[in-house]
Amino acid sequence: MACILKRKTIVVIGFAVAFLVVIIARLTNEVNFPLMLSCFGQSSVQWMPFSYTQKRHLRAHYGYLNVKNQEPLQLECDLCAIISNSGQMTEQKVGSEIDQASCIWRMNNAPTKGYEEDVGKRTTIRVVSHTSVPLLLKNADYFFKETNSTIYVIWGPFRNMRKDGSGIVYNMLKKTVDSYPEAKIYVTTEKRMSYCDEIFKKETGKDRLQGSLMTS
Ligand SMILES: *[C@@H]1O[C@H](CO)[C@@H](O)[C@H](O)[C@H]1NC(C)=O
Repeated sequence: MACILKRKTIVVIGFAVAFLVVIIARLTNEVNFPLMLSCFGQSSVQWMPFSYTQKRHLRAHYGYLNVKNQEPLQLECDLCAIISNSGQMTEQKVGSEIDQASCIWRMNNAPTKGYEEDVGKRTTIRVVSHTSVPLLLKNADYFFKETNSTIYVIWGPFRNMRKDGSGIVYNMLKKTVDSYPEAKIYVTTEKRMSYCDEIFKKETGKDRLQGSLMTS
């Protein structure tokens, strides 16, 4: 129970920070999302009044490999909307604004169905913690069939993600792509995971590997 409360607090604080960033972004029209985007090799992102008619060139991101064919993730974003999975997103009524971004990022299994007015309906990419994979699988038809254009990037500790047959999360994902050949599921490489842990430590002062602190 204490753990759940703690996580809720973290999510709420996370939302407050994200919201502040969005406000600042809207004031300055330009912003960096250093933590998450540098993890994805996007050095900076322009937050522009919405227009994404220009042709996008996909870029390969070698820290993220497709579970089915081991190909790197191809992604290029002009304008990102990073949507918190906090309950505070309800009643925000920013759905149509979010849906105009060229890349829409969501966390774990954060729902859109029924909340479109507040959080939008498009999802380009879901960043999913290894602990949330079973939650996606509970609703696999929705995530991997109905919304098969969404890219899933799964992160987790090497012991769960290893590909030699003993990584329990990797095994689940492997089974999933066998059942849903259209599903675009990527895993974070061990090297990329260390890099992101390092950034997390630098920006928060906390060692994700030592504490029980979990973020999405
Ligand atoms: C992919 O999603 C679209 C839209 O929901 C659906 O019409 C199509 O059947 C899906 N494809 C597969 C192979 O599930």
